[in-house]
Amino acid sequence: MRYTAIILAAGKGKRTALSFNKIFYKIHEKSLVDYSIDFFKNDEDCKQIILLVSKENIDGFQSKKNGKISHLILGGNTRQNSVYNSLDFIQEKYVFIHDAARPFLPKKSIQNMKKKICDFPSITLGVFLTDTIQRVEEGFVKEPLKREELIAVQTPQAFHKDLLVKAHQLAKEENHQATDDASLLFTFLGISTLVVEGDKRNIKFTTMEDLAFLEVILK
Ligand code: CTP
Ligand code: MG
Repeated sequence: MRYTAIILAAGKGKRTALSFNKIFYKIHEKSLVDYSIDFFKNDEDCKQIILLVSKENIDGFQSKKNGKISHLILGGNTRQNSVYNSLDFIQEKYVFIHDAARPFLPKKSIQNMKKKICDFPSITLGVFLTDTIQRVEEGFVKEPLKREELIAVQTPQAFHKDLLVKAHQLAKEENHQATDDASLLFTFLGISTLVVEGDKRNIKFTTMEDLAFLEVILK
């Protein structure tokens, strides 16, 4: 199989309170964004990498644009808008979308996604929850949720390009925003997303507390 990887690095990392973007935070002398870039560079099924970056950082990324990294694109003001900006440049039939803030890419899980993407239009990595999760309204817990029906969604998510493009176009027309791409295929095309088991180590660097765990797992 062949696929395009979209790496999302165009956020602001506001929740980290670092003086620079979290994707440049270095663990074991390597920036977090480089973990994702190297993963896709080293995967021979990945034929093209599109990097979404912010205006402040685009100059620093110029030197990375070569070989498989075909495009450096300016992101939008939301994650969804960043993905949207990349859609015209996807060359392959299958697309894997990944958050640069997740530096631990689970090889086995991604291998499983690659095996399945020919037969399923939309796939997400997900891990079952160990905590009990409840819905809260105005300070009170609402009806109980069944833990065995809940997953924490991870990236990469994988799609058939034509469906991803269509779902994003419809979402844009309706001014609808979501925090992942698979939910757009469900909302606008009625497509169910297959869950492939992810990995607990595939966490997103969101707040400073996440760093201690990342330092250990990236060894
Ligand atoms: N992202 C992006 N474009 C945006 C917003 C987010 O490409 N407009 C990327 C981020 O760089 C990150 C991933 O999407 O790799 C997941 O988003 P998140 O963890 O929310 O990162 P930030 O938006 O950068 O962080 P924050 O929400 O704390 O500002
Ligand atoms: Mg964000």
